[in-house]
Amino acid sequence: MKFFIDTANVDAIRKAHERGMVDGVTTNPSLVAKEGRDFKTIVKEIASFVEGPISLEVVSEDAEGMLKEARDLNGWIDNAAIKIPLTWEGLRATKQCADEGIKTNVTLCFSANQAILAAKAGATFVSPFIGRLDDVGHSGMQLIADMVQIYANYGYETEVIVASIRHPLHVFEAAMLGADIATIPPAVIDKMVQHPLTDVGIERFLADWEKVKGKK
Ligand code: G3P
Repeated sequence: MKFFIDTANVDAIRKAHERGMVDGVTTNPSLVAKEGRDFKTIVKEIASFVEGPISLEVVSEDAEGMLKEARDLNGWIDNAAIKIPLTWEGLRATKQCADEGIKTNVTLCFSANQAILAAKAGATFVSPFIGRLDDVGHSGMQLIADMVQIYANYGYETEVIVASIRHPLHVFEAAMLGADIATIPPAVIDKMVQHPLTDVGIERFLADWEKVKGKK
C-alpha cells in the first residue's frame, strides 16, 4: 500500500519522509490556505525532497481554464499530478491531460458511477473522500470496496487514492480492501504506530535489563 501525505505543511511532510513513509503528497486549496504561504514556493520545497507524485489542484470550473492551469502547474515540478474536480468539465480536462501525458488526480469523488467516469476519462488517480461520506451517514468504505472491485473487473489502470481519512481504522480497512493508496493526514500517521502494549513491553524489557546489566 502506498502512503501519500495529505497536507501542504512542509515540516510535517519532511518528518514523515525521514520516517520513510512518503510515497507522494496530496494538497488542496484548503490545505494550502492553512499554510498562509505562496503556493509555488511550498510546492518547490516539497518537490526538493519528495520523488513521488505531488497533487496540485486547479480552481477553474470550466475545462479550458482547468487545462490552462494544469499545463502551468505541471511545468512547476517534474512529479506533478493535477487535481481536477469530478464534473463533466473536469472529466473533459482529464481526458485532454491524459492525451497530453499530464498525470491527473480526479478529486471530490463520492460515488461508484463517478469513479467509473474518472477511469474512462483516463485519470491517473481518483480520490474518493471517505470521511466526508461518513459525515453524512453514507459508508465511505463501501465506496472503496465498490471501486476496487469495479476497477479490477475491467482492468482499469486508474489508482484509488483513499482520501478524507480521519483515523487509523480508515487506513486499516482501506488496506484490507486492497486500495492502491491512502492519503493520510500527519496526525493520523502519528497515531498508527501507537499501541499501549508496545510501551508497556519496552518498559518491562528495560526494567528487567537493569537487573542483569553489568553482571558477569
Ligand atoms: O485529500 C482530501 C482531503 O484533504 C479531504 O479531507 O478531512 O477535508 O474531508 P477532509
